[in-house]
Amino acid sequence: MRRIVFDAYGTLLDLTAIMARVRAVTEDRGEEFLALWRQKQLEYAFLRTIMGRYAPFRQITQDALDYVLERFGLRVNPSERERLVNGWTAAEAFPDAGPALKALRSAGWSPLILSNGDPMMLQASVAHSGLLPLLDDVLSIEDVHRFKPDPRAYQIVLDRYGGTADQVTFVSSNGWDVAGAVAFGFTVFWINRTHTVLEHLNLPPTAQLTSLTELTRQLL
Ligand code: 2OP
Repeated sequence: MRRIVFDAYGTLLDLTAIMARVRAVTEDRGEEFLALWRQKQLEYAFLRTIMGRYAPFRQITQDALDYVLERFGLRVNPSERERLVNGWTAAEAFPDAGPALKALRSAGWSPLILSNGDPMMLQASVAHSGLLPLLDDVLSIEDVHRFKPDPRAYQIVLDRYGGTADQVTFVSSNGWDVAGAVAFGFTVFWINRTHTVLEHLNLPPTAQLTSLTELTRQLL
């Protein structure tokens, strides 16, 4: 069976719903706040991997939020803080995600997720999105305590299903994840949803697309 592995947040799951929750505490600085929150969340995941100090993604998300709140000089009460962090599990599926997963399954592909999310957070997010029945597996990096783009995180797929890296098709909207998966040896499709530029890491994907609909057109 041909395996196709998806990143979760930003690729299958649309994080824009978090913006409404962010705006409730930041008013007109929402975009700047959310951008820094996401940047810090990734930075903390990468730093913790380099330092060998793993913490679950939900914890990292909370720590990054606390950093940004402090930087912005904002105070929130515990329930507002909880509501912001829970925004990650309230993300909706991108409109193209369900149809693409269905089409791939009908054509004999086995779709799964490999995410930096910890199992509880990830299961809750995927269940909320309605995509769970369309996926054959939802893998978290939790077992190896190393976040993507560490090669040990991508290795989870091969350890679970066997085969070689070049037999795995990997799909992500995140430039850093695309570079990591290419470095690992996966065949990689970059879904450039935000029309941004390729990371300058000299690790280009097999193809750059703008939606999962386009991905199905390429693969089917
Ligand atoms: C993931 O789902 C955080 O998008 C990243 O692994």
